[in-house]
Amino acid sequence: MTSRELTDGPISDSMDLGVARYIGCQTWSVDTARSLSVAQVAPGVTFPLRLAVLRRVPTDAEVSGNAGSHAHFVVRDGGVVVATGVVVKKEPPDGGPAPGFSWWLMGMAVDPSYRRQGCGSLILAAVLEHVSKHRGRHVWCHARIGAIEFYRRHGFVERGSYRDDPVAGRQIMMHLRLS
Ligand SMILES: CC(C)(COP(=O)(O)OP(=O)(O)OC[C@H]1O[C@@H](n2cnc3c(N)ncnc32)[C@H](O)[C@@H]1OP(=O)(O)O)[C@@H](O)C(=O)NCCC(=O)NCCS
Repeated sequence: MTSRELTDGPISDSMDLGVARYIGCQTWSVDTARSLSVAQVAPGVTFPLRLAVLRRVPTDAEVSGNAGSHAHFVVRDGGVVVATGVVVKKEPPDGGPAPGFSWWLMGMAVDPSYRRQGCGSLILAAVLEHVSKHRGRHVWCHARIGAIEFYRRHGFVERGSYRDDPVAGRQIMMHLRLS
């Protein structure tokens, strides 16, 4: 049985960006009947689910194995990958609130039959732990419409305006400042 807990309590600050504080009230847990585990993996392990869910090919850097500061995470049920997420040190296009300390979150994909069971939250917790460990202070993403509530729930806030991507559809940038 594996079950991990993640707590959150987003607080807005004067820059109108979310602030993650993992001391709080809300408890996330996964279905304990399943053998879910989170791990950092080689890039290619994430590709099949990302392609299936997001219909988005990995970046050239990931495919070539020259992934630099990319970190790839999966949730597995037994041996099967059921959720993915990737984070890379990169400044956001709009500059962001913490120049030199920003990380881009991408490739968030959960197998449809595992959604709303905490898998995305487990990936995000692993990503935030990784970013914090590397002294990151800010995480941003291009949030698809269907994922906005998920990110809001974790303290991210929208910034800028919507844009239409030919593959992802309508998206908006969301930011999370780490305390
Ligand atoms: C967005 C996504 C990653 C969320 O993963 P998940 O494992 O389903 O999310 P969790 O179970 O950890 O959800 C945690 C909380 O986020 C919120 N949330 C998640 N999905 C939501 C949705 N579709 N609508 C509203 N709130 C949602 C809820 O508050 C949820 O808690 P609850 O289920 O107790 O109400 C997943 O739905 C997904 O892969 N979607 C398709 C691909 C995609 O859009 N990826 C994001 C690209 S930017």
